[in-house]
Amino acid sequence: MELPFIEPFKIKMVEPVYRSTRNQREKWIGDAAFNLFNLKSEQVTIDLLTDSGTGAMSDRQWSALMLGDESYAGASSYYNLKNAIKEITGFSFFLPTHQGRAAENVIFSTLVKEGDLVPGNSHFDTTKGHIEFRKAIPVDCTVDIASELTALHPFKGNVDLDKLENVLKSNPKEKIPLIIVTVTNNTAGGQPVSLENIRGVHNLAKRYGVKFFLDSARFAENAWFIKTREEGYSGKSIREIVLKMFSYTDGMMMSSKKDAIVNMGGFIGLKDEDLFRRASAYNIIYEGFITYGGMSGRDMNALARGLYEGTDFEFLTSRIGQVAYLGSKMKEYCIPILEPTGGHAVFIDAKKFLPHVPEEEFPAQSLAVELYIEGGIRSAEVGTLMADRDPVTRANRFSGKEFVRLAIPRRVYSDNHMDYVAAVVRNVFERRESMIRGLRIKSEAPILRHFTIELEKL
Ligand SMILES: Cc1ncc(COP(=O)(O)O)c(C=O)c1O
Repeated sequence: MELPFIEPFKIKMVEPVYRSTRNQREKWIGDAAFNLFNLKSEQVTIDLLTDSGTGAMSDRQWSALMLGDESYAGASSYYNLKNAIKEITGFSFFLPTHQGRAAENVIFSTLVKEGDLVPGNSHFDTTKGHIEFRKAIPVDCTVDIASELTALHPFKGNVDLDKLENVLKSNPKEKIPLIIVTVTNNTAGGQPVSLENIRGVHNLAKRYGVKFFLDSARFAENAWFIKTREEGYSGKSIREIVLKMFSYTDGMMMSSKKDAIVNMGGFIGLKDEDLFRRASAYNIIYEGFITYGGMSGRDMNALARGLYEGTDFEFLTSRIGQVAYLGSKMKEYCIPILEPTGGHAVFIDAKKFLPHVPEEEFPAQSLAVELYIEGGIRSAEVGTLMADRDPVTRANRFSGKEFVRLAIPRRVYSDNHMDYVAAVVRNVFERRESMIRGLRIKSEAPILRHFTIELEKL
């Protein structure tokens, strides 16, 4: 008999899962103004709000913390991280930042000005926020098949190279400071980008003289999909594929809270020394000196170690396999989800789940609230609330997409927890017709509103 696959780790430390009653949850979510970000963690049973900074560190990472060097300048922890980044990504220059959006802030402060265009695949919300905050325009050139929610294409995160070339051709290169490709494409469902596509973007970037960066939060998951889905790479290691991916770019911005399995941290990787020097000035203003940039020495040590663990093939197989497992349970219960499942989350198609709730009443957020009331599951809305208002017209940006994202933290939950999640979703699915009205906005911030928005039930 062939032996089954097992997780390449065992559990040394545990923390409690909080249980509550339906009545308690109904009260708590009302007090939280129907915004799941406002809940206390003890009010949540299974927390699938995000896979960002929520992973479990290994004993090796915890022991690396103890060896942290907290010197202001030139700490050994900085050099540990610098060496790990060089070995895993190939970048010779790097700047530590406190998290991914801080890396965006530093790079965009260096490169982006009012009126610029920043093309790529779907920009993540903080990326979009940073670009629009500078009165520049993110241009989404994702392949059309990404919008066909159940089309089984292996690389639905890809950039449409014709759309990208159109943007590059019809604008002066001075207006396009960089192209950003997000791997995996979080907004489009954690869908991967192929190496062939990355190479294609590189060729266009070279031809039109524009810089090319990867928003790399889930670069290792992306490499796993390349290894298992793209012809010619099954014999390559994850690390060989990662080096190849970055070899086509000028730089990377990293939220280390995802694939580097730490609770806080980020960095920028660069090839060009001059750009590194220019970005260093902003790093010092916004983050800290260039050898710590918003991170403690101990955290840089844990991150250095996490880069190796996060690029381990067996680990990635168990992690992405767990996401696929939850997806398969959903399909068994006929729940409409985005297919194929991506690397870090299952995305429920709330428009199909609640076809009778109009977009104006935020079906994805309404469904996320119901999943919480039913079983204490915290998820995230990836829909109209997250899309923010159009910066010029201030109208809601209805993209036609209304997802509830169930993001799975790394090395945290078991498959039994996934069975519980699927059962909760099924119970809500069975009573979906009773949910006839959605939600209305009571108050909202002008940008990145979903974090602090207040809503009320209609
Ligand atoms: C693709 C992507 N880019 C950037 C970020 C921002 O990173 P951080 O939350 O560390 O600021 C995230 C966070 O979820 C992300 O998923």
